Amino acid sequence: MKIAILKERRENERRVAATPDSVKKLVDLGFDVVVETGAGAGSSLSDQDYTDAGASIGADAAATAGDADIVMKVQRPLLAGEGDIDELALMKQGAYLLAMLSPYTTPDALEAYAKAGVKAMAMELMPRISRAQSMDVLSSQSNLAGYKAVVDSANTFGRAMPMMMTAAGTVAPARVMVMGAGVAGLQAIATAKRMGAIVSATDVRPVAKEQVESLGGKFVMVESEETEEAETAGGYAKEMSDEYKAKQAELVASTLATQDIAICTALIPGRPAPQLISKEMVESMRAGSVIFDMAAETGGNCELTVPGETIDHNGVTIIGYLNVPSRLAVDASSLYARNLVNFLSPHVDGESKEFAFDMEDETVTGILLTSDGNIVHPQFAGAGE
Ligand code: NAI
Repeated sequence: MKIAILKERRENERRVAATPDSVKKLVDLGFDVVVETGAGAGSSLSDQDYTDAGASIGADAAATAGDADIVMKVQRPLLAGEGDIDELALMKQGAYLLAMLSPYTTPDALEAYAKAGVKAMAMELMPRISRAQSMDVLSSQSNLAGYKAVVDSANTFGRAMPMMMTAAGTVAPARVMVMGAGVAGLQAIATAKRMGAIVSATDVRPVAKEQVESLGGKFVMVESEETEEAETAGGYAKEMSDEYKAKQAELVASTLATQDIAICTALIPGRPAPQLISKEMVESMRAGSVIFDMAAETGGNCELTVPGETIDHNGVTIIGYLNVPSRLAVDASSLYARNLVNFLSPHVDGESKEFAFDMEDETVTGILLTSDGNIVHPQFAGAGE
């Protein structure tokens, strides 16, 4: 059974879907692994690192993916017209494609995977069950992104994070507000606390309160019966009513004016990011403040965010980096690659080393988008029509 690791070709992407550590594990499981030459360069990994771990090197994408049974990537493959090559066209019929496929925003691509006869699996749809925690790519990547957002914000901020009592006088601690206390937000809170900031956070899911407080953050949240149903069975947030949004805006406005740094992580799967910081709220912040909008990719939590750019509005810096996990490519690749190994390994027979997906397993059915020429995932059947 051959696994191919392709080089990532999309903009801002430095990660790779395998590391020497994951290659060793895959080889031990009985797979043949082929890595496209240069695939690890963005994550400081050389072809030699991969060959030392037991992989062979493919001279180009076609030679790497051509006869592979499983193709593993970080981002969705380039389709015809999207770049120099059509990565999907290189794959053989019936091969599995494992990547973060953004199925909510790419209905046409789903149709293309089906037409190509590829079994596409969107890793970000991994069900949030305890057994699948080690396969959860959203968690592994968001955790790193939450940390990096605080580090990058502190780097931009022209003042110190901790309180410092010096002979020349006292430096006040920074005040950091985290919007959205999920995986990224909780790591942002922990990081900002470690750096000595005074941290507050908000979310729509009441369970976040205890988590924020256990990290030493202050939880601010609109008290409303609506929040009792704000969480889906999968642990994600729902879109809130207009009435709730208005109350939340008041609360955020009154808190934000006293903050130095806002880390925005609020997301709703399959929908645009909730807008939590208006232009007026930005204007209420003092010059020198920083807003790091991790939700930039899906529209941003801040009205003024420009995806992919860092702007200055009345002295407030608004950072809209795309693909924050890629800014920590070495660790992000390492965790992502382990997520993939953890996903595949239960389907390898311990004795015979034969590999076959258990099609009754919800970690498989929950992420399988296309099979035998059709879109088979219930959430997306009919997409692209
Ligand atoms: P996410 O990335 O979809 O959203 C980030 C945060 O934004 C969430 O906490 C969400 O409630 C919040 N949010 C959404 N709309 C908001 C609004 N209008 N105002 C303020 N905040 C808003 O979610 P993430 O971080 O991927 O996961 C959310 C939760 O899922 C985790 O905290 C955890 O409890 C659970 N989880 C469970 C796992 C498992 O059991 N395997 C693995 C990972 C997470």
